[in-house]
Amino acid sequence: MLYRRPSLTEYVIARLVTIIIIVTTLYTLIIVTVPKEIQNTAFHVALFVLALLLILSSVYVVARQVKKELKIVEKYLSGVEEFDEGSRKARFFTREFETINLRLIQILRKIKNENKKKRKYTAKIKLKNRQRSDMLSAIAHEFRNPIAATMGYAQTLNDDDDIPPALRKKFLTKIYNNGEKIEELLSRLLLWNRFESGEQRLHLSKFDMYPLIREVASNLEERYKERQIRVEEHHLVVKADKALMEIVMKNLIENALKYSKEPIEIGITQNQISVTDKGVGISSKNIDKVTKKFFRTDEHSWDNSMGLGLAIVKQILKLHHTLLLIESEEDKGSTFYFNI
Ligand SMILES: Nc1ncnc2c1ncn2[C@@H]1O[C@H](COP(=O)(O)OP(=O)(O)OP(=O)(O)O)[C@@H](O)[C@H]1O
Ligand SMILES: [Mg+2]
Repeated sequence: MLYRRPSLTEYVIARLVTIIIIVTTLYTLIIVTVPKEIQNTAFHVALFVLALLLILSSVYVVARQVKKELKIVEKYLSGVEEFDEGSRKARFFTREFETINLRLIQILRKIKNENKKKRKYTAKIKLKNRQRSDMLSAIAHEFRNPIAATMGYAQTLNDDDDIPPALRKKFLTKIYNNGEKIEELLSRLLLWNRFESGEQRLHLSKFDMYPLIREVASNLEERYKERQIRVEEHHLVVKADKALMEIVMKNLIENALKYSKEPIEIGITQNQISVTDKGVGISSKNIDKVTKKFFRTDEHSWDNSMGLGLAIVKQILKLHHTLLLIESEEDKGSTFYFNI
């Protein structure tokens, strides 16, 4: 404790006063007790040397004490990284050193915390960079297929002037469809980016989920011909972001179409919407992972998939303060649902 310690000056003066008192007392005692005939010049010189030695040894003790304290301080300064809270317990004799000790501990603790923060930050940046590079590879991979197909069809059309009109039309449709795929991949990426940077804001309005789901379903039925999507007719009016809800439904229904062959069932109740398929299902080890960005199960390498759909759905539902829930069994099917 600070107030108990003497200052360095007080400490040195106290030492000197003590030693002077001891020396004077001893000297008086010796002069009084030793017979006068023995007290010659040599005797006085010897006494003087003895007193001097006593004073010197006392100064030496003080110097050693100061040296010891300086050593502790030096130890702190030479090994900032090794500084541990145990050093706080070091005992100091004088107030000045105690103050230096406390200040140093404060500074070292600060440096240590700063270093810790810096290390955390560096690790975070490294992780972000790795994720970014993973993302780039995933994107490049997904864009390659539709681009290669477009180039292939265009090349064929260019090389052969005698292609029958029906085949020419078919190739042009393929080129158009692949362009659409690229467009969709791009918009999904941009949407994801808005979520990542926290730019996405909600534009709330009151609307009926049933017609919205019906429209999404019929658009998808156009694309997935020969597939059936059954929507339960229940008018559920919600306050939500309509454009984002459309994205949620589109992703969930499209997944159901991609990962199953049977008709899809969409349930609408008082406060819940569900999308059920009788498809490949998800294994229990993967069920927690499917909503992670860029995750796709190893078993299926589907075309035109980035593994972003469910991650986007999860983010949108989170913005609406609700959760995406999944029940699934391998080879039996899955139900994706949320309360709203
Ligand atoms: N209805 C489903 N049945 C079985 N597995 C599914 C279903 N929905 C999603 N999955 C699995 O979860 C993974 C992640 O789905 P998600 O929608 O995020 O990505 P994706 O469909 O692969 O690609 P994207 O939606 O970006 O085009 C899928 O790759 C698939 O393995
Ligand atoms: Mg998907």
